[in-house]
Amino acid sequence: MSFQLTVAGKAAAIPYPALIATFFVNASDIDTSIPVEFVDEKSAVSDATAAVKLVTPGGETFVDQLDALDFLAQTFPDIITEKSKSQPWVKFALEKLYNKNFKDLVGDLEKLDAHLNFRSYIVGYQVTLADIAVWGVLRANPLMGSVLKNGVYPNISRWYNYLAESDKKFDKSVELMASSLNELKRAAKTAKTAASGGKKETHKASFEIDLPGAEMGKVVTRFPPEPSGYLHVGHAKAAVLNEYFAHAYKGKLIIRFDDTNPTKEKVEFQDSIIEDLALLGIKGDQVTYSSDYFQKMYELAVDLIKAGKAYCDDTPSEKMREERMVGDPSGRRERSIEENLQIFTEEMKNGTAEGLKNCLRAKIDYKALNKALRDPVIYRCNLTPHHRTGTEWKMYPIYDFCVPVVDSIEGVTHALRTNEYRDRNPQYEWIQAALNLRPVAIWDFGRLNFVRTLLSKRKLQWFVDKNYVGNWDDPRFPTVRGVRRRGMTVEGLRNFIISQGPSRNIINLDWSVVWALNKKIIDPVAPRFTAVDAHLAVPVKLLNGPKTPESETKPKHKKNPEVGDKTVIYADQVLIDQADADLAEGEEVTFMDWGNVIVSKVTKEGDVVKSIEANLHLEGDFRKTSKKLTWLADTKDKIPVDLVDFDHLITKDKLEEEDNVEDFLTPTTEFHSNALADLNVAKLKAGDIIQFERKGYYRVDVPYEEGKKAVLFTIPDGKQVSRYGAKK
Ligand SMILES: *[C@@H]1O[C@H](CO)[C@@H](O)[C@H](O)[C@H]1NC(C)=O
Ligand SMILES: *[C@@H]1O[C@H](CO)[C@@H](O)[C@H](O)[C@H]1NC(C)=O
Ligand SMILES: *[C@@H]1O[C@H](CO)[C@@H](O)[C@H](O)[C@H]1NC(C)=O
Repeated sequence: MSFQLTVAGKAAAIPYPALIATFFVNASDIDTSIPVEFVDEKSAVSDATAAVKLVTPGGETFVDQLDALDFLAQTFPDIITEKSKSQPWVKFALEKLYNKNFKDLVGDLEKLDAHLNFRSYIVGYQVTLADIAVWGVLRANPLMGSVLKNGVYPNISRWYNYLAESDKKFDKSVELMASSLNELKRAAKTAKTAASGGKKETHKASFEIDLPGAEMGKVVTRFPPEPSGYLHVGHAKAAVLNEYFAHAYKGKLIIRFDDTNPTKEKVEFQDSIIEDLALLGIKGDQVTYSSDYFQKMYELAVDLIKAGKAYCDDTPSEKMREERMVGDPSGRRERSIEENLQIFTEEMKNGTAEGLKNCLRAKIDYKALNKALRDPVIYRCNLTPHHRTGTEWKMYPIYDFCVPVVDSIEGVTHALRTNEYRDRNPQYEWIQAALNLRPVAIWDFGRLNFVRTLLSKRKLQWFVDKNYVGNWDDPRFPTVRGVRRRGMTVEGLRNFIISQGPSRNIINLDWSVVWALNKKIIDPVAPRFTAVDAHLAVPVKLLNGPKTPESETKPKHKKNPEVGDKTVIYADQVLIDQADADLAEGEEVTFMDWGNVIVSKVTKEGDVVKSIEANLHLEGDFRKTSKKLTWLADTKDKIPVDLVDFDHLITKDKLEEEDNVEDFLTPTTEFHSNALADLNVAKLKAGDIIQFERKGYYRVDVPYEEGKKAVLFTIPDGKQVSRYGAKK
């Protein structure tokens, strides 16, 4: 007899705790392994905690995860440890944390978060049954993905990621489950295809949430920016999600310039938006312009008037606003169709004095509870020449009319947009219905907001005008250009947005979450170099060091040879950071990637170390020293660099509409420090991302030129805290 674990593939919640526990048994030295069988059915018992069956060598059968875990911990106490201390946590996990209603979870998550403050493990000083149970249940709960990624509960996220990274058994069990589930799905599909006589099936995107009604190959999404500014990270979410779904379903993405307001738009912004999208790795399958449809929209507006569903209104705007507020009808609401037609097609179209006084309003419901339905304006005169159609038109459709019309005409199947527009969804649907246009499914998601970050075009312009920042590509700006210049990678930003998914919660996110994801992308490929702070750098004389400088070829990244090689110079005169120089005479330390050194003499002036003498002790054991120091050969090949760090522009996490930006300006947001870097840094190009060992990640903004310092920007890695209290 031996063990056997059976896992139900279609269970409401995956029994990861049991799977992980068996992984621990498998991976241990003992001569037992627990085979796992995945079955394509719901569990025998409907309870989520019982989607698993453990049969023991003794022939006992457990169909409850709690009992199965209990038994495993009882049988393998050295592998799945701390059974009794873990017990309350196992119960807590299985009974509370599988819950898929966030509201019910909050209290328990807070409790767990507080418990994990200053703890690496739930119980004691190693992975125990408690960690296995809690981690597994959180992994199984689909709600938790974005909560964990966003660090809503910082201690839980830290612990969760730490376990996943330090103990591969956690992730391995997830992988095993995923591949087995896929196999089950494939088998089921083959069976189904066979049963249906080989008819093609609709596929699903590999996204946690599927687009309603989406069919493989038929999805058309769109991203409709107004060409009136640069893209910022808020737009990036809409762009990335629309692209993601279009391509996940092998469909099409339309980039549509919503150029319906000639007062605000410029050709240069059109070009910059295309560039910004390219920076995000997004290329539309088709680029269109709302202005291509001006004639068509005009005709549809006329149809709407003829159907008695729109009227011209010359009520002064102040009064119109008032009426809309209180739900009173406009005095012009009952104008005759003839009169409306005359005003719209003659006066407004020609931009006459009479036309300019009027606008066209959809006749929906002046006292609707949803104020967006209170006869919204759909056309307005504007005599400014349009950058594409010149003076051909004197009136232009409003966004709320243009978007549903053009979406439908262009064949868009799914309009993904932020839920700021949610109140306007019924209006969107009304317009399509009133014009007998093909309906488009709207799908809204929460807008991305970041702490201490302004996304309003007007406010950003203010910073540019006041010279608080260089320009729209300033590394402190949340524009796509700005964050890229700061060192954000396309993958980092995309992964982040996709991890957020189409969740509808609007959270004020901490930048550290995105930067931490970005770090995961850059760390495995960023070449490593050396830099020493120029300010008070300490000369170290190595009495027995090489009399003439010697050079060696070393990998730029110890774990990734593909990154290439660099030259390292060894000399008897080196420099170290003042911050590292607090050494005692006789102390043994390690010079990184060289060897041990024994300090013989330290010369100080007050607290400042002026110089050091030491002897190389290369036979010394680097594992026995507690200080590992960065050093740089003090030869003429050193490269001067300017390291620049930035802080948030504002000091308040969330600026309200009524707040005055000037009251919340961060006093200093740009910090320079001079450093000396190794000779390899001279070859870096603008845009290269590197790491200075023990200092951090940097992006080259201005490369080195003879006689001119290289300028490098610090790339946040999610751990720095700003001088003004916020995480970067
Ligand atoms: C444990 O090992 C067995 C035999 O090698 C294997 O079939 C089973 O899938 C493993 N279990 C887990 C959880 O990896
Ligand atoms: C852990 O949680 C506590 C309570 O929520 C919080 O005050 C603390 O800052 C958190 N610690 C860390 C390291 O995030
Ligand atoms: C509007 O312009 C058209 C074409 O130029 C012209 O025939 C018509 O008389 C104009 N209507 C008004 C009211 O100016």
